[in-house]
Amino acid sequence: MKKVRVDLQKNSYEIRIGSGLLPQVGPWLKETGLSGRAVIITDTTVRGLYAGALSQGLTQAGFNVTVLEIPPGEEQKTLETAGRLYEKLTSIYAERTTPIIALGGGVIGDLAGFVAATYMRGVPLVQVPTTLLAQVDSSIGGKTAVDHGRYKNMIGAFYQPRMVVADVDTLKTLPDVEFANGMAEAIKMAAIMSKDLFNYIGNNIEKARALDVSVLEEIISANAHLKAKVVSKDEKEADFRAILNFGHTVGHAVEAVSAFGLKHGQAVAIGMIAEAKISNRVGRMKESDVIRLREVINKAGLPTDIPALDIGEVMTAMRHDKKVTGNKIRFVLLNAIGDAYITDGVNPALVEEVLTGYG
Ligand SMILES: NC(=O)c1ccc[n+]([C@@H]2O[C@H](COP(=O)([O-])OP(=O)(O)OC[C@H]3O[C@@H](n4cnc5c(N)ncnc54)[C@H](O)[C@@H]3O)[C@@H](O)[C@H]2O)c1
Ligand SMILES: [Zn+2]
Repeated sequence: MKKVRVDLQKNSYEIRIGSGLLPQVGPWLKETGLSGRAVIITDTTVRGLYAGALSQGLTQAGFNVTVLEIPPGEEQKTLETAGRLYEKLTSIYAERTTPIIALGGGVIGDLAGFVAATYMRGVPLVQVPTTLLAQVDSSIGGKTAVDHGRYKNMIGAFYQPRMVVADVDTLKTLPDVEFANGMAEAIKMAAIMSKDLFNYIGNNIEKARALDVSVLEEIISANAHLKAKVVSKDEKEADFRAILNFGHTVGHAVEAVSAFGLKHGQAVAIGMIAEAKISNRVGRMKESDVIRLREVINKAGLPTDIPALDIGEVMTAMRHDKKVTGNKIRFVLLNAIGDAYITDGVNPALVEEVLTGYG
């Protein structure tokens, strides 16, 4: 097992990453001084696979466990679903000290996190991420939210968990496309912050895809460490967190224009390659680094070519993204693999040219 500490003064917490951890959540939670009722929030798919092992450990540690489940899918990440969960929490007399355990992917993490942040002005939260995306990204950093209308993550709160427990064994049942989706964010994190991690991922991607436990532990913990660093630093340095948007300026636009026919990670993969090419064209990133990035993305089972989309529409979507200030489109570009910077100074004509000549 590996441990990563997220340093946020009195809101500090630990991320534990390893194999066979689900039954240990109960004893660990008990060690924090909590007792009595514990509520697991999960989706129907994950419940059938993993709620048993988690809830058995909690019961053995003396907790009185209630499992609340919702159907899987982003459509559930709404205030209505949160409302139904508040209703159930009040009906079982959940108290201010009743921990909520979010067992699932990023949808469950964001929704259950939001419910934990708001029910009785906040109850203890434990994140037990079961997708690679949630293990490397969404369970760390304290962002919780629900969607509103057509706006993603519109209503939310910053709320830190007491603990994050990433059991890599849960990835065994994850569909390949979901695995690749999470790997896109892991490659992104490495590309902006750590050449070492990038090389490690590049050299071990087949083992990771074959679910080698020690490779997964290494990739997830290194990622968690980097995300923890960004999150703790951002408290002091405004906007530093924005470097996490590498690949996302083009990625979000491509995702929207594809009418969400592309998964987020697939769109980010395409976005990373486009933004690496832009980095090269403005005289920063070496061509050989661009090629290496593309190679690793390809080996991860992610797309490297832009699908047949209307580039004009992609440009329009980029201008309408919420991160645009004034007429300037903000980009995270790379000086090299492992070294990112933020700029508003990219000429839109260059972006259009790179997207048009993509592939
Ligand atoms: N809070 C943040 O900082 C942050 C960061 C990135 C993304 N997000 C959010 O995360 C969400 C996406 O998360 P996601 O990609 O994990 O999607 P998800 O939660 O929808 O999970 C994907 C699918 O995999 C299934 N699943 C989960 N674990 C499984 C397992 N171990 N085996 C088999 N199936 C399993 C789920 O039931 C679901 O159908 C989005 O809502 C996004 O906004 C939040
Ligand atoms: Zn993303």
